[in-house]
Amino acid sequence: MSTLQALYESHQGKVSDKWFSYLKKYEEIFSDFSRKSISLLEIGVSNGGSLEVLAKYFKNASHLVGCDINPGCQALQYEDARISVVVGDANSDATQDKISGISDDINIIIDDGSHRSSDIVKSFARYFPLLSDGGVYVVEDVCCSYWNAFEGGIFHPTSSISFFKSLVDVINHQHWGIEAKRSEILNNFREAYKVTISESVLEKINSIEFCNSLCIIRKKSAELNLIGNRVIAGSVEEVLPGHLSLAGSSMPKVNEDTNAWSVIASK
Ligand SMILES: C[S@@+](CC[C@H](N)C(=O)[O-])C[C@H]1O[C@@H](n2cnc3c(N)ncnc32)[C@H](O)[C@@H]1O
Repeated sequence: MSTLQALYESHQGKVSDKWFSYLKKYEEIFSDFSRKSISLLEIGVSNGGSLEVLAKYFKNASHLVGCDINPGCQALQYEDARISVVVGDANSDATQDKISGISDDINIIIDDGSHRSSDIVKSFARYFPLLSDGGVYVVEDVCCSYWNAFEGGIFHPTSSISFFKSLVDVINHQHWGIEAKRSEILNNFREAYKVTISESVLEKINSIEFCNSLCIIRKKSAELNLIGNRVIAGSVEEVLPGHLSLAGSSMPKVNEDTNAWSVIASK
């Protein structure tokens, strides 16, 4: 079984353009899927080489669907029948319908599209709901979120990185201690980009990982995303007593209604 890095190094066909650290990270996050009959969506295809390499890596994949707004991508032809390219704006209903027509159960989504904050957030709102439980959503080149030309800046409130940072709070919704839906933490983005993500989708966000220019979001069924009950191991409490009686208990409810730092702006 070749590593993704080895496949990139030996690749001779259509061009793909990736940063070295991504290949190492992809090996880590994709290896569990590498032998499975997965379906993959790549937003942003360009010369089409990444789909060719990914098809070699995911030998048993059923579908590798690429999407690109550039009409030039109509010319891309693949010998591997599992690969298809939809030409159109990823953030249009027509393009989404075409993608869903090819595969309605997607295990891996890679957003390597325009890298503009608005497109990234809109695509996440549109395609994360289509990701199957256990799936992984990767956003490449979020370095652009620090740049004005891509609707970003270090402290830009609606940059793509700001959006993904907010998902950290979504994951920890159980502990807010106020009566508010997960979606309320995303009010800024709803207003800026006219996107909504339902509670039933947000509760499935299991984890978010940031590395240099990559953001990786994993999806699991909602019950797997709760903190769970307390597990107490051992029987000797020489330093601090009181733990043994807590075995099996749930997280106590807290009330942060009077905490000025817990008021969600712009409802
Ligand atoms: C960085 S390139 C993709 C590179 C490719 N994934 C690779 O590995 O070589 C970005 C591509 O995203 C496409 N793109 C930009 N905005 C898009 C949109 N709204 N929908 C779909 N594709 C888009 C561009 O046309 C461009 O070809």
